[in-house]
Parts: sequence; C-alpha cells; structure tokens
Amino acid sequence: MASAKEYKNFINGCWVDSKSGDKYENRNPANNDDVVGAFQKSNAADVEEAVNAASEAFKKWRLVPAPHRGEILFNIANRLLKNKENFSSDMTREMGKILKETRGDTQEAIDMTFYMAGEGRRLFGVTTTSELKNKFNMTVRQPVGVCSFITPWNFPMAIPSWKMMPALICGNTVVIKPATDTPLSVVNLINACHEEGIPPGVVNLVTGSGSKLGDPLINNSAVKIVSFTGSTEIGRKVSEACASSFKHTCLEMGGKNIEIVMDDADLDLAVEGALWGAFGTSGQRCTATSRLICHEDVADKFSSMIVERVNKLKVGNGLDEKIEMGPMINQGQLDTVLKYIEIGKKEGAKLLCGGERLSGKDYDKGNFVQPTVFANVTRNMRIWKEEIFGPVLSIGTFSNFDEAVELANDTIYGLSASIYTRDINKAYTAMRDVNTGIFYVNAPTIGAETHLPFGGTKETGNGHREAGTAALDVFSEWKSVYVDFSGKLQRAQIDTEN
Ligand code: UN1
Repeated sequence: MASAKEYKNFINGCWVDSKSGDKYENRNPANNDDVVGAFQKSNAADVEEAVNAASEAFKKWRLVPAPHRGEILFNIANRLLKNKENFSSDMTREMGKILKETRGDTQEAIDMTFYMAGEGRRLFGVTTTSELKNKFNMTVRQPVGVCSFITPWNFPMAIPSWKMMPALICGNTVVIKPATDTPLSVVNLINACHEEGIPPGVVNLVTGSGSKLGDPLINNSAVKIVSFTGSTEIGRKVSEACASSFKHTCLEMGGKNIEIVMDDADLDLAVEGALWGAFGTSGQRCTATSRLICHEDVADKFSSMIVERVNKLKVGNGLDEKIEMGPMINQGQLDTVLKYIEIGKKEGAKLLCGGERLSGKDYDKGNFVQPTVFANVTRNMRIWKEEIFGPVLSIGTFSNFDEAVELANDTIYGLSASIYTRDINKAYTAMRDVNTGIFYVNAPTIGAETHLPFGGTKETGNGHREAGTAALDVFSEWKSVYVDFSGKLQRAQIDTEN
C-alpha cells in the first residue's frame, strides 16, 4: 500500500481525501502484483459534499453561454488527444483490454468531447408557426440540474464521456462515481476538465463502491438526473429508487447480442465479424456477440472456420502489442465466465474450443480464460438466454429467414444485432424486424459511432439513448415559448372557437 500512487476525490475544484480516511488498492487484472493506485473509499458524506458543490455550481454554469461551454469542451478534447497514449496505457493497466482497444476507448472520449463542443453552437430547438396573428412560437432546451453518474469498467473513459459531455454542454453539473475497478481513467478525464478551466463544482468525482455510494447518489433531492450503465439487475433497482422522486433516469443495461449468418453470406467476413464481436474486449462489451445463429447449410463450415481462428488468438497482458485478447476484469467476472462454461457443458451444448482458465507463468497472476465457442446451442439453454459478459460464443442454427428473426428476438434484451447476407431484401427486412436499438448489416454487433444514438430496447434500456443528439434529450428539458406581440389578449384557438 505504501508504494501505491494515491489518487483523491475531486470536489468543488479541489483534489481531496475521503472523509472516511480509507482507501482501496486497485490492481492490474493481467498481473495482480501490479498495483495501479490507491483510491478513496468514499462515503455518503463525500457524496453529499460533491452534490452540494454541483448544486451551487449549477447556478452559474447554466448561465454560461453554450458556445463558451463548448470552447472549454473543445480544449478538453484537445488535452485528451495530447495525452491519448498515457491515458490508454493507464487504462490497459487498470482494465486489462489490449492497447489497441484502450486507444479506441480514449479516442471515443475525444470524439464525444469534440462532438459535444460543436453542440455548443447548435443545441437546436425549433421556431414554428402560431395559430394566432402576431404571435411567435419556439422551443428551447433548458438544463435540468445536478446529474449523478454511475459508470462501468468496460469502457472506463468512453462511457463516462458519453454522459458527461452532453450533460455539460446543456448546462448541467455532474457528480460521477466510476466503477471500483477503473477509477484512474475517470481521474484522467476529470483532471483534463480541471486543467482546461471547468469552473469549481461543475464536475465532481467520488470513488468507491457502488453498494455504499449508490443510495446517496440516487436519493439526494438535489440530484435531478441519474444515468447508469451496468447490469439490468442493478438498473432495475436504480429505476425503482428514482421513481418516487421522479428523477430523470437513463439506463443502459444488459445485452444478448446476436450475429445472424445467412446461407448466402460471405463466410470469411462473417467469421471475421464474429471473432471481433465475440472476443474483442474479451467479450466484455454490452454489445458483444454472445449468440450467433447460422443457416443449417453453412453451420458446420462456419464453425470449423471460426474455431481455427479462435485457437490462434493470442491471450495475455494487453500492454504487449502482440496480444489480441486480455484478461477478465476481476476474479468475480472470471468465476462467472467459468460458471457459464460449466452450465453450457451440463446443458448439452457442444464445446468446440476453449473452456478453461489459462494457467502457467504468463497467466497465473491474472484473470485469464480461453476464448470459448459452443455449438448446438438451443433456446432453452441458459448460455443462450443469460448475459455472460465474457469471451464465450454460443452458436445455434436455423433453417429459414423467418426462424432466424424469431430466434434473434428470443431474448429479454434488445441492444445490438447483425446480419451477414448478400440479399438486400433480407438485410432490410431483418433491419426492420429485429427488435434492437442498434443493427448492423455485414458488420459485427460492436462498433457504434459517437454521433448516432446508442442504447437498446426491452430490458436493455428505459427508452433513452446515449450519444448522438439523442443524448441531449436526456440532459435537457424542452421549454415551449409563446411570444404574443399583438398588444392585446389573444385567446388560444381552442378558447375562441367553441
Ligand atoms: C459497450 O458495448 O459496452 O459500439 C460499449 C462499440 C463501442 C462502445 C461499446 N463504441 O463497440
């Protein structure tokens, strides 16, 4: 503990210790000997102080002209860009995913910050007509207030930026609690905000466990928006906790995303897509391909093609540029993955490759598991139904297109899906009929871009979207403004004609 670099909370423009006086150590999931840092084990009093600071800061921040807020965001984006390499290697150390992917994560935060900086000169509302003479109608976006963010470990900088940047450009203030496993990336993000002159109290950071900080972050009456990314199980609790005070709640939760491979698909491309979709980020993306269905005429060929590729994947410490798949984030996640592999075997799925925890000198100090593929997976199996959040691909088959669409929709989740086909009619039909928030044609289930809405249907979300201009709808409320310049009382049409 003595040698670990110590990181603090950020409240009202200052780096401060938690009132608890306690810290926790965070270790590299690829090498448990490597202590990434010591972070504050915050408590409810820290959250209260952060929310108070955010509340106070909101009074001024909401009145800063949006283009000025945008200039600050633009400078933050540039600072992230300048530090991209350092921030990405910090992220690989704390999260485990390979450098190429953490560079992508940091880049996603940069893209989102530039994008929202530009919104400072848009934030468009509408001007429209009036039923009455000499009357002018328009809509404007209004900020809402203090936002609480509870963010996940799989995209340690990108997802916090998806929430923070649209919130800030709209004029809200923020208290963020990053995942216990990946606080450093948010420290880096917050520090960039601080260095570029975000006023005190506008962004605040408290680190520590969700079980301790969740309630104070949600229940404080000054908090007006709660945005959460994580499991459907916790999201449901967040939703219930917010309901009685009518807090706005934006939830991004589980997925059981599917790749559909038609018999006319370019199989090489479909294999490439599945490999990236299922094993990129070690399967720890909400959008990861965890189910794949193949037309029965090509299923055996597809399976042998993918197994050949999976067996060659290089697993190890993501700081080594040659590595293609990193560890599980923590022991708990590793145990979950191993548990599901056992369940799959017991349920009668056919293990095509992988299935074991990796051991030996390169692996013993980390949470490594083999990339795993099951075939003959059917809809009654738990590995078909439940989110695993690890490098486990479950393959099933279908005999016609309608059955494929039906199987795609056979899930409580609705985040992402993809189809590989050369038949444009089938591609468009699937696009229309597969019930997800994100849909890809001839591309993997992962790879969303920041200027399009991100989120899902059914138990993946609660009707909101992150990213794109859709995010502005989470972080602002519409005000409809009527200006009467007739100089006399004009009653609305409904009040004059009946
Ligand atoms: C996630 O799936 O957890 O779409 C986030 C992607 C990334 C973000 C993924 N841009 O793959």
